[in-house]
Amino acid sequence: MIVDNHGRVLDYVRLAVTDRCNLRCFYCMPEEGIDYLPKKQLLTYEEMERMLRVLAEMGIRKVRITGGEPFLRKDLLSFLWRIKAIPGIEEIHITTNGVLTAPLVPELKKLGIKSVNLSLDSLDRERFFKITRRDELDRVMDTFHALLQHNIRVKINAVVMEGQNTEDIIPLAHLTEKYPVSMRFIEEMPFNGGANNHPSLTWNYLRILDELQVVYPGITKIADAPNATAVHYAIPGHPGNIGIIAAYTRTFCGTCNRIRVTAQGGLKTCLYGDDVLNIRDLLRADISNDTLKASFLQAFGNRAKDGFEAEDHRQFLLPVFQSMSTIGG
Ligand code: GTP
Ligand code: 5AD
Ligand code: SF4
Repeated sequence: MIVDNHGRVLDYVRLAVTDRCNLRCFYCMPEEGIDYLPKKQLLTYEEMERMLRVLAEMGIRKVRITGGEPFLRKDLLSFLWRIKAIPGIEEIHITTNGVLTAPLVPELKKLGIKSVNLSLDSLDRERFFKITRRDELDRVMDTFHALLQHNIRVKINAVVMEGQNTEDIIPLAHLTEKYPVSMRFIEEMPFNGGANNHPSLTWNYLRILDELQVVYPGITKIADAPNATAVHYAIPGHPGNIGIIAAYTRTFCGTCNRIRVTAQGGLKTCLYGDDVLNIRDLLRADISNDTLKASFLQAFGNRAKDGFEAEDHRQFLLPVFQSMSTIGG
């Protein structure tokens, strides 16, 4: 078991397998995209597998594959089978934009993928296009339906933004009436790769909840899983539920059980922090697994208590010129 310097158990790694993406969500990247990493700088699958084996020996139980768009990385499915075979890893989850995912869903089911988090900010084709700068709503919806047909748990992520998709809040919430999905509304965070100005945050957690309460007066708070980022609500009679992720106004640091590995092998022990270890260079320096473990332990014993309070982290006044696509969300 891994316990950090503030007594928090760490059992969850978010692994970004690529920084590339086939959408251009404006809250994540500029229209021209970001400067993608040269392939040599990415961790190879062999390196990722070795790292995960070491982390699993230490106590990591849950892996979430993120990106960029993870399915843009070649042969991702074979890599997922390799992760599945790692002793100690109990759950694999994926966060995807769903553009390429639909045809792969039957194999994801065979793999026993626990849940898929799907980015979907609007059900309206024009607004979807305006936000993502690509006309891919139909393929994302195909993925949504394929996941439901295969009984894979689906959580939908919608970043709520003034002037972009606030009229989608209710239609998206309405999905929970028909489908057993968790519909999560997310406060915009300043990780946009320099794409726009600082998030206006006129749509914070409370305003999103107010909007929902007008249409669903019966909406009630339900229990959250121990390390959830979302606060959950039920609407009477709906098989799905609503989640609100106050990613910006609230801190979930007290119960944070996650670490992140960026596509180039940077270890982040906090979303708002810098890389604390260059895993790629360590692996390529031919070190032993014991030395690798010792480096991890040192990093885990040095985590910020609260990423928001840490010096220069909460950049209220400036956008962060880093893209979520590189960090992995
Ligand atoms: P699970 O609990 O495994 O379902 O993960 P998740 O819901 O946190 O993951 P997902 O990749 O779907 O991300 C949803 C939103 O939460 C994104 O906007 C993430 O950037 C944000 N998020 C995830 N982890 C953190 C965190 O540690 N801190 C903050 N502030 N936001 C986070
Ligand atoms: N603020 C909040 N959430 C974001 N995501 C990407 N960029 C941002 C941002 N600037 C979310 C997307 C995706 C998840 C991994 O991160 O909704 O589903
Ligand atoms: Fe791609 Fe996700 Fe970023 Fe959108 S938010 S550009 S889908 S990585």
